Amino acid sequence: MSQVMSQEFDGKVALVTGATSGIGQAVAMALAVGGAEVIVHGRNAVRGTATVGAITESGGTARFMDADLADPDAVRALAGKAGPVDVLINNAAVYEFGPMLEATVESFDLHMATNVRAPMLLMAALAPGMVERGNGSIINITTGAVSTPVRGGGIYVASKAALDHMTMVWADELGAAGVRVNAVASGPTRTPGMQALGDEVINSLGRATVLGRVGEPSEIAEVVAFLASPRAGFITGAVVDARGGIPALG
Ligand SMILES: NC(=O)c1ccc[n+]([C@@H]2O[C@H](COP(=O)([O-])OP(=O)(O)OC[C@H]3O[C@@H](n4cnc5c(N)ncnc54)[C@H](OP(=O)(O)O)[C@@H]3O)[C@@H](O)[C@H]2O)c1
Repeated sequence: MSQVMSQEFDGKVALVTGATSGIGQAVAMALAVGGAEVIVHGRNAVRGTATVGAITESGGTARFMDADLADPDAVRALAGKAGPVDVLINNAAVYEFGPMLEATVESFDLHMATNVRAPMLLMAALAPGMVERGNGSIINITTGAVSTPVRGGGIYVASKAALDHMTMVWADELGAAGVRVNAVASGPTRTPGMQALGDEVINSLGRATVLGRVGEPSEIAEVVAFLASPRAGFITGAVVDARGGIPALG
């Protein structure tokens, strides 16, 4: 059950990228519980419509918008169609794993386009409106793996490290105008994307946390909703750790 305060997002429009699955879907639901009008973004219209349906059935307001975030023109069109946005959650991402020696230019470009350029373009398009209104919250979903080498994760994690850094610089540029920018560094979380990697991978990643398990999307969504809310009014430029704890060496 979500701990999000009802009505804390009343009158606010929230754009959640990658809300057709996993963490993004849970964030969309949590913000809707708090009263936000949620733009559910993704590419898969069937899952997008299902997410909108689940939100509206529980009394919330949502609509679906599709865009391929690897295409910069589609990202700009999404921002234009969304209109004024008060809460932007840059959640959508690709994660492909493999040895660096076998990495392709195509995979590198896809990670950087989807995981770094798209959030940057969305922030650039939507932050000026927030600045004008003197209010706004942007949250980038990154990974706890940024501070730990992850075998096979070189390109994916590098893209998230870039997003962590941009989070701090955007926070610095926008803070004086009342716009907060934070990141949530998620630990291994049971989502459809992770599930595609197989149970063995998920369970071994879960065992590598202090809590000894993977997280649930709703547990990450709680942190995101808190950061998006006025309850986190004095937090900006933070990369909040939600990774189940880092085991001690030795
Ligand atoms: N799950 C974990 O263990 C974990 C750990 C650390 C960080 N994270 C981060 O958490 C976020 C969500 O991960 P998840 O596991 O919930 O992901 P997921 O289940 O794989 O879902 C990915 C979402 O991103 C969207 N997406 C991917 N590429 C896109 C593109 N080119 N254009 C538009 N949408 C695109 C997908 O939309 P469609 O399917 O509709 O196209 C989908 O909604 C990501 O930023 C990920 O890096 C996850």
